[in-house]
Amino acid sequence: MVLTSLSQAALDDLLREATRAAERSYSPYSGFKVGAALRLADGSVVTGTNVENVSFGLTICAERAALVRAVSEYGPGIRIAAIAVANLNGAASPPCGACRQMLSEFAAPEAPVVFPAAVGTTTMRFDELLPLGFEMKLK
Ligand code: THU
Repeated sequence: MVLTSLSQAALDDLLREATRAAERSYSPYSGFKVGAALRLADGSVVTGTNVENVSFGLTICAERAALVRAVSEYGPGIRIAAIAVANLNGAASPPCGACRQMLSEFAAPEAPVVFPAAVGTTTMRFDELLPLGFEMKLK
């Protein structure tokens, strides 16, 4: 399937999966319950939620949790065709910079990313969200 031809219905489904994942959040310190759903190029969907730790810096975001699950389950050749993020707190929450950088190795540049805005949701292409990710090109 051509990534950009993903239907609105498919994106809505992905957002529902992200919301379901947010219900499994382990976030006793922030109370911010985030879920992410990745649609892979073959149509598989992999979800993740944020898992916090009392040593706060060890916390993993929902998006990266989903990514490590996807690679663990489907291997290093995965391509991400679409990303949805949701939270149960009614707040705007685009993926953080660390998550954008990690996702960049697997996400198609044109992959739609749907995330909660101040009102409703916003959809942006992945390469709009991270126009200049770090690359290491050794000579
Ligand atoms: N969080 C995410 O899950 N994704 C993001 O992109 C940013 C923040 C989580 C981490 C922490 O558990 C809570 O939201 C508050 O920062």
